[in-house]
Amino acid sequence: MRFDIFTTLPQMFNGPLTESILKRAVQKGLLDIRLHDIRLWATDKHHTTDDYPYGGGAGMVMKPEPIFAAVEEVVGATREERGDTPIILLGPGGEVFNQRLAEDLARLPRLALICGHYEGVDERVREHLATRELSIGDYVLSGGEVAAMVVVDAVSRLVPGVIKAESRQDESHTSGLLEYPHYTRPAVFRDMPVPDVLIGGNHGAVDRWRREKALERTRRLRPDLVARWEE
Ligand code: ADE
Repeated sequence: MRFDIFTTLPQMFNGPLTESILKRAVQKGLLDIRLHDIRLWATDKHHTTDDYPYGGGAGMVMKPEPIFAAVEEVVGATREERGDTPIILLGPGGEVFNQRLAEDLARLPRLALICGHYEGVDERVREHLATRELSIGDYVLSGGEVAAMVVVDAVSRLVPGVIKAESRQDESHTSGLLEYPHYTRPAVFRDMPVPDVLIGGNHGAVDRWRREKALERTRRLRPDLVARWEE
């Protein structure tokens, strides 16, 4: 799967995309993650990517020209050339990203992500270039980069071969519930024992216990998920 990430801060992606699971997936050729510095498409001497807002107000707004030029060169200049590749703007005003959206996006061969910044992005990017806007939650980040990393990470681990399929079956949000509790050795740590049922070797009992615990935990922490799960 290919990701094209448009950002004014490409250095920020060192680390999250170059370590661990994503690093291995890139090495194996399962992922192709390309960073594009929007600044390179700014045509003025200072490579300006932001400007004052029309109508006044605090903060700066990302200029449309370098973003359009970058996406048009890398993904395609026309809607036909861009085909079905979603062009996703990351911003706090978007649809809230979740596991279901990650699963939908992981089925596609390619995604483009635009990292918004400053007070916002010129509305023409949202209206005429982006095909959808995603937020990673109801809080405001200092820019879309961290959000893009979250989307790339959550989508990438669903691409076949990136992690073992079994690792994903029981995890939080895949089933619609939070995950059951995990334990490893020692059987007793500082007077805190592992529940007997997990040590007993009765697989049916273990499965029942895990289902109960997942439901109990989800009821306590995320009643909204239980309501949806029961529908
Ligand atoms: N940029 C700033 N806040 C954001 C958020 N919550 N999600 C995505 N992009 C953002």
